[in-house]
Amino acid sequence: MDMTDLQQDLAAFWMPFTANRQFKQAPRLLAEAKGMYYKTPDGREILDGCAGLWCVAAGHCRDEIVRAVQDQVARLDFAPSFQFGHPLAFEAANRLAAITPPGMDRIFFTNSGSESADTALKIALAYHRARGEGSRTRFVGRERSYHGVNFGGMSVGGIPGNRKVFGNSMLPGVDHLPATHDLARNAFSRGQPAHGAEFADELERIVALHDASNIAAVIIEPMAGSTGVLLPPKGYLERLRAICDRHGILLIFDEVITGFGRLGGAFAYDAFGVKPDIMTMAKAINNATIPMGAVAVRDELHDAIVNAAPEGAIEFMHGYTYSAHPVACAAANATLALYEREQLFKRAAAMAPHFEAAAHALKGARNVIDIRNFGMVAAVELAARPGAPGKRGYEALVKCFGKGVLVRVTGDIVAVSPPLVAEKAEVDRIFATLAEVIATID
Ligand SMILES: Cc1ncc(COP(=O)(O)O)c(C=O)c1O
Repeated sequence: MDMTDLQQDLAAFWMPFTANRQFKQAPRLLAEAKGMYYKTPDGREILDGCAGLWCVAAGHCRDEIVRAVQDQVARLDFAPSFQFGHPLAFEAANRLAAITPPGMDRIFFTNSGSESADTALKIALAYHRARGEGSRTRFVGRERSYHGVNFGGMSVGGIPGNRKVFGNSMLPGVDHLPATHDLARNAFSRGQPAHGAEFADELERIVALHDASNIAAVIIEPMAGSTGVLLPPKGYLERLRAICDRHGILLIFDEVITGFGRLGGAFAYDAFGVKPDIMTMAKAINNATIPMGAVAVRDELHDAIVNAAPEGAIEFMHGYTYSAHPVACAAANATLALYEREQLFKRAAAMAPHFEAAAHALKGARNVIDIRNFGMVAAVELAARPGAPGKRGYEALVKCFGKGVLVRVTGDIVAVSPPLVAEKAEVDRIFATLAEVIATID
């Protein structure tokens, strides 16, 4: 086989989270990218309405990041982080600690959001055990949440489709809060919806059932991203925080999507004012240039675990060969410097009102039953076609791609979350294209 054959035979690559048979009949291939645009192999430009997979916050192939990666891979391709270290890892941790909420300055590196979720759960267990509360092993997740695909994250996650096949092999001892999505009361909300703070009270019910002494942590996405942009109702996060505090339960925010400017601040703490005990991140941590994730932890949690171990003993039996990979760290350092220099989180906040207006202009369009938004993320929810849920959403994805715009769909929910460098005209084009497309879907 020559190279062209190797590239054109689509059978060998078993694609993740993809309808493989459907895709391979009509592939949507992306061959290059720069700034706000992808290019297909035949040279068609595709405006990136979803920052890749919510991750390319600074736009594609930014020169500074590309150069940092190229230089680093030639200087130090790999160094172990088990009992050795390299300077870029410490720099990356310090750069992250500078933008995490106050007092959350201890950073553990992973390679993905899924690994970050499982790492966060393990840190919660280790913390309670270090303090002599080893009975705290239960976790509380939430319906319609996504924490990746590893066994821990899948168990606390709340997507039926992701759990169906693996349902009998989940972590034991997990309960789920109800989702906060409430179309009947909150449809077409701008920003945080008004109704639903009381969904947090379900945590009291779970505590009453199991007793707080058995519960390690609650994990939620402060704004659920991949299940369809589900925003926290006003007062909800505050209430959840208060209940956790009352019962000594740790609160974990999964910030894999919400981190790094998506909500108009560095993290959900900056947008909503509620501070977790542990935060996961990945994706935009290094503009998605090299796989990377991280977990930020409140200093006291880190200290409790580290100080509980005998001198010379490894305190936390966890880590990945590629934790703090030098090339990923180089990309992160260049990315975090770029975010700061270009003030991209502030830029996202400044663009948010225009973005919101452009999104809500689709109100009244065919089959649109909700539009919701915060910062630089919005969802347009279509009514499901009777007997064919997800079909309208998929049609919207395909037709938008045909018109040169990449969006993401979850069922019949179309999510828009472009790179934070988007100009007003690009924001307008994304929503105008979506409006045109929706008008053609019966
Ligand atoms: C909130 C959240 N957590 C975890 C993950 C999993 O991240 P990854 O795909 O990098 O493993 C995702 C991915 O979309 C996510 O949105």
